[in-house]
Amino acid sequence: MKPRIFVTRRIPEAGLEPLRHAADVEIWPDPLPPPYPVLVRKVAGIDALVSLLTDTVDAGLMDAAGTGLKVISQMAVGFDNIDLAAATGRGIAVGNTPGVLTDTTADFAWALLMAAARRVAEGDRFARAGRWKTWGPVDFLGPDVTGATLGIVGFGRIGQAVAKRALGFDMRILYTSRNHHPEAARRYRAEYADLDALLGAADFVTLHTNLSPETHHLMNDARFRAMKPGSVLVNTARGPVVDPAALYRALTRGPLACAALDVTEPEPLPPGDPLFALENIIISPHIASASYGTRARMAAMAAENLLAGLRGERLPHCVNPQVYPGGGPAA
Ligand code: GLV
Repeated sequence: MKPRIFVTRRIPEAGLEPLRHAADVEIWPDPLPPPYPVLVRKVAGIDALVSLLTDTVDAGLMDAAGTGLKVISQMAVGFDNIDLAAATGRGIAVGNTPGVLTDTTADFAWALLMAAARRVAEGDRFARAGRWKTWGPVDFLGPDVTGATLGIVGFGRIGQAVAKRALGFDMRILYTSRNHHPEAARRYRAEYADLDALLGAADFVTLHTNLSPETHHLMNDARFRAMKPGSVLVNTARGPVVDPAALYRALTRGPLACAALDVTEPEPLPPGDPLFALENIIISPHIASASYGTRARMAAMAAENLLAGLRGERLPHCVNPQVYPGGGPAA
């Protein structure tokens, strides 16, 4: 009998095709994610799950799947929606898709940084509204990017890729991270700073941390108060890294000039949210990895992880290697 796989949304064909060869695949057909109670029913008896960051994959869901569930393959680099301890406790390997989305995500963080600083979205709204009457010598002024100081919070793959882009803009680069990264720091001429020093010195702050209990609301009132007047915040990491009420205060009373978010708390941000009423914020719908090539590579990688798990092999990109005898470092 073929193994059974549930895929929680239609993913690129590059990921589905290899799965169809090996298993009976059911794909949730709607554009919106399956509601949790539906997901609980759908996973009953499956051998493997392809999950997305919009799915809550907790102990209850794993128990609803039953003891045949061997692998959860997340089509994303982040996996804070998955209860990793529960998976590990049940011997379920969890995979993710690191590396393939690094440049695409860094490109998007850069696009947001530039667009926020130079008021691209605001200018577009102004022009469309028929309000463009002349070239204004003091209209739409914003901070320069070239030559400014960039603070990178989280200096993993994506943070480093953003540093690489900043080099081309002659920026002074500061980074803060759980670990020092001396080699990457040399390569990108980045200096380590603790978070408060970074916030006090940076004209632009870009977030690239995982979401964890330590980084939940990392950007709170006190941290915003530590930022430079007129500075810019970019978040392409996870929404709850920023306290949204504190962000609102920082955008309306200072010190922030503007912000750009690809991720929000909650997600999606409801239409009446006060942040939408502000001109000095750009909000995009969590699309930093959304290029044709990258989404296809993420889907293919999710399939590789899943199929390895079904064959009883180690996942090429496993985030809980403790499920294997001898363990090993996380991917
Ligand atoms: C996107 O946010 C991802 O984690 O891949």
